[in-house]
Amino acid sequence: MIRKTPFALVLALALTSLAPAASAACSVELQGNDAMKFNLANIDVSKKCVTFEIKLRHTGKMARNVMGHNVVVSRSADMAAINADGIKAGLATEYIKPGDPRVIAHSKVIGGGENTSFVIPVGKLNAANGPYSFFCSFPGHAALMKGTITLKP
Ligand code: CO
Repeated sequence: MIRKTPFALVLALALTSLAPAASAACSVELQGNDAMKFNLANIDVSKKCVTFEIKLRHTGKMARNVMGHNVVVSRSADMAAINADGIKAGLATEYIKPGDPRVIAHSKVIGGGENTSFVIPVGKLNAANGPYSFFCSFPGHAALMKGTITLKP
């Protein structure tokens, strides 16, 4: 018995550490900074997730009207047009043209020190219609602030 206790304890700790990892598979934290950069160049999205949450954290200090960041998810082929219409729409609508059907999901625009999150309905991502991307639609940011979304089994 005295030898079984440590093993049981190790097993319990191992299972405890696995639990958060399993639930974290349907979400990711993405950081944006004052240097107009995201910390991720790709986000893997498992098709097993019904929704996939992106938690955006602005690690900088600059205001949302100066160095604001959002996250827009769309087909890569639609990025440029969404971005052009978003710039015209302005900050009042989060640099997204209201009701833009090309936008699969998006967050609001945040400034330094702020957080936000949104979910992607994973059923709207179909490998045959991809590839998909994420980007910031704040004017001038998408050239640097963009990445790929990779659908995983
Ligand atoms: Co930005």
